[in-house]
Amino acid sequence: MLQETFTESYIDAEKKLSNRSTQGNELVYLKQVLDSGNLSSLMGGTFTPRFESQFSELTGSKYAVAMNTCMGALHSAVIAAEAGAGSEVICDSVYIFGAMAVLYNNAIPVFVDINPITHNMDPDKLEAAITERTKAVIVTHAWGLPAEMDRILAICRKHHLLVIEDCAEAVLARYKGQYTGTMGDVGCFSFQASKQMSLGDGGMATAQDENLHKQLSNFAGAPTFLSVAYSLDYNYRINELTAAVGLARLETLPQEIERLRENATYFDRAVLGCDWITLQRGPEGAEHSFYYWAANFIETKGGPTLEAFSHAVEEAKLTTISVGDTKIAAYQHPLIKERCAAAFADERNKNCIIRYEDGVCPVAEKTVPRIILGDTVAPQEVVCKDADILHGIIQKFG
Ligand SMILES: Cc1ncc(COP(=O)(O)O)c(C=O)c1O
Repeated sequence: MLQETFTESYIDAEKKLSNRSTQGNELVYLKQVLDSGNLSSLMGGTFTPRFESQFSELTGSKYAVAMNTCMGALHSAVIAAEAGAGSEVICDSVYIFGAMAVLYNNAIPVFVDINPITHNMDPDKLEAAITERTKAVIVTHAWGLPAEMDRILAICRKHHLLVIEDCAEAVLARYKGQYTGTMGDVGCFSFQASKQMSLGDGGMATAQDENLHKQLSNFAGAPTFLSVAYSLDYNYRINELTAAVGLARLETLPQEIERLRENATYFDRAVLGCDWITLQRGPEGAEHSFYYWAANFIETKGGPTLEAFSHAVEEAKLTTISVGDTKIAAYQHPLIKERCAAAFADERNKNCIIRYEDGVCPVAEKTVPRIILGDTVAPQEVVCKDADILHGIIQKFG
């Protein structure tokens, strides 16, 4: 039942968002690919390398490897960290994706609590979770807001840990002037249907180090035919059609991010002055790229209950606003809680920290069901209409 509810609401949300029209040169580039007959970069296609180099240039990353999904990029990053069975990888406690990539490689995810205002990993909680088995830290930039990277990086460098940035929701976000995906060792981006830059599906792994770049490239382009396999690589490569649309989308991405930022201001105004809703903002020096506008519902003496507020939002049938996200912290997903992955039965993980009981990350548990999300990707008129209705709901509660 729980699974059905998740799946239905997810599909509903994705349907609303996945209908992206042509914004620039998409059709021109697609025709060039089809006319060339090279649908894969393996066959001499040129759009994949162009997409990669344009992405590097735009985000200030030294290297970029185009992939078929962000999950492929995350998995590749975990392999590059040499985090296999017997290893722990630290993840934040809102998102499940990093933990899934860790489990793909038979390592164990260890969850660290979040800061309730930023929804991102709390650097104050990080060091206590590091053990001699820790190989890497996966930091998600929640909803497009960069995590407090300088403090996280300082801790990770001290302990020689690989830093993987999950930038699936944070393309062109910046922290203290640096783009997401360039601060850690590997950045993982998603071009899945709902994301700021939608290609239907697609991903990118960025790296600053040549050796890491080589490893990531292997994962993106494992041997397919007539080639000898020397290592266990994966077929996570992108195809030329997707890369061509990606190249076109990159040309208009900065304007698209500005549009999302403007849409976020309408949601900001809708909640202005409400003392039981606080915005997801900070840390100092962070520039949000608004995959979603996000805020927190706070129980106060004079305000509504969470139930009453959620009910009012549901009744209004808004297409862009939802309350509560998944309603649970990452380790409360049945996959983790019920230990439904081979890694949990692997003898080599017997010394790893496997603590997934309720209460492990109390801030995430309390925050996630109270997260209010506003879809900034929707057209401006829809955002304005829904923001007005949200404002009306808030006024009604006085
Ligand atoms: C934070 C985060 N990480 C990873 C992913 C996975 O992205 P993909 O579908 O491209 O594999 C998503 C997609 O929803 C995401 O939001």
